[in-house]
Amino acid sequence: MHDIIQQLEEKRARARLGGGEKRIAAQHAKGKLTARERIELLLDEGTFEEWDMFVEHRCADFGMADNRVPGDGVVTGYGCIDGRLVFVFSQDFTVFGGALSEAHAEKICKVMDQALKVGAPVIGLNDSGGARIQEGVASLGGYAEVFQRNVSASGVIPQISVIMGPCAGGAVYSPAMTDFIFMVKDSAYMFVTGPEVVKTVTHEEVTAEDLGGALSHTTRSGVADLAFENDVEALLMTRRLFNYLPLNNREKPPVRRSQDPAERIEMSLDTLVPDNPNQPYDIKELIAKVVDDGEFFELQTEFAKNIVIGFGRMDGQSVGFVANQPLVLAGCLDIKSSTKAARFVRFCDAFSIPIVTFVDVPGFMPGTAQEYGGIIKHGAKLLYAYAECTVPKVTVITRKAYGGAYDVMSSKHLRGDVNFAWPNAEIAVMGPKGAVEIIFREEKNDPARIAAREAEYRAKFANPFIAGARGYIDDVIQPHETRKRICRSLVMLRDKKLDEPWRKHGNIPL
Ligand code: HXC
Repeated sequence: MHDIIQQLEEKRARARLGGGEKRIAAQHAKGKLTARERIELLLDEGTFEEWDMFVEHRCADFGMADNRVPGDGVVTGYGCIDGRLVFVFSQDFTVFGGALSEAHAEKICKVMDQALKVGAPVIGLNDSGGARIQEGVASLGGYAEVFQRNVSASGVIPQISVIMGPCAGGAVYSPAMTDFIFMVKDSAYMFVTGPEVVKTVTHEEVTAEDLGGALSHTTRSGVADLAFENDVEALLMTRRLFNYLPLNNREKPPVRRSQDPAERIEMSLDTLVPDNPNQPYDIKELIAKVVDDGEFFELQTEFAKNIVIGFGRMDGQSVGFVANQPLVLAGCLDIKSSTKAARFVRFCDAFSIPIVTFVDVPGFMPGTAQEYGGIIKHGAKLLYAYAECTVPKVTVITRKAYGGAYDVMSSKHLRGDVNFAWPNAEIAVMGPKGAVEIIFREEKNDPARIAAREAEYRAKFANPFIAGARGYIDDVIQPHETRKRICRSLVMLRDKKLDEPWRKHGNIPL
């Protein structure tokens, strides 16, 4: 028996060494942690239960029969984050560059299947050269098996991808179907085809970093949510994100009460919005002042900055915030901001996370670039997402709510549950200047008359009381009581139920 135990320990030690000490040193020299070190940082100490440590590939071509490494380039299993169950896979770049074989894919599928059965999230730590070239189509089949599970799990359990090394070819499509993507600066990149192929096909010269690095995907493409300085920061932030989420779509998100009183008054909010309606202010200041302890976990901070999305807590309850940002493009809705917010709204809806929307929107962005780019279709995504969403929806109009954008931004008409406006809110078809230029076109050469018409329009329509008179907003509230009023609304809405007629699925304008 002693010998067998000894052999087991030797086998385990061999598996733990992955591609060997030299390759581990090379991984460290690149500023990257190993697959196992990453899992240790991600999970609560001592909670990791590893599966399939002895799995090996079955490929015999290209000399692979004599080249097997136990675990086959991915470490899989489950553990806890702050005491809550999570499944994890972590690709090991020291073994065949983390490339995905049939066996490697089977290991990932096994944890995904189990996570679905027990209702717990999956976190994937990606560091891989893509399909295992020696295996050919078996490896492609393996990817497709993972993709299918990504889709089957979508909206059932949260899925988070952390990109910590290369992620090339079709391999990017598994992370793309997960709910959140974090990347590590300088060591992670994602692209469908690498710089060499790009050069051959389009004659563009581009570095891997520019093509698919963390900055490109968090500022230009919007594929990734956040970029972090190193592995440690990315993993610690993944733990933070996890704490806002429920384990699955049948559970509510965890409640974490703080010392911050739900009825807290914030007098400084009374002067947040400048008197001049064209002067911007930072909507993040409002979020920081109403959320528990000022803690706001913003996503996609560097992409489509004219809309702000992220998680916070209100009296301990997880909430998704969506807010127009007057500091960027006057907070208007365009293609990027609409798709950014729409996906976030749908995530919150799928996972029972109430949505608080702060509205200060002058309308949709005009212009050929937007129209040719399909703003009609992309703007409709946000409209669709808010309209189909059945979680509690609390909306506060802080200043402008003009035109179609008023309708879109969680208005009463899209089943907004509680809709507030600040006293200075302007809820109308369009701004006074634009309105007067159209209605009184014949007076356009008389600046004095136009100015008088504009003042008349502003006095008549640029306020919250016309909408209030129709019940489109439930109350006009003092800015300083915003937190209190949202918290009370969320308590009232805690057991909200809204049943929809049966259908297979809707047809969101993609
Ligand atoms: C098998 C691979 C591999 C792969 C890397 N390796 N990628 N083995 N299949 N896909 C091996 C290398 O041979 C090497 O082994 C070790 O991993 C480390 O790789 P290096 O090249 O030394 O590392 P580095 O310089 O850091 O470059 C990493 C890399 C590069 C950029 C990922 O290895 C690379 O370009 N690999 C190929 C990427 C690729 O084209 N993948 C297929 C994409 S198509 P040794 O023993 O020499 O150390 C795809 C289809 C999916 O993924 C379709 C799904 C629908």
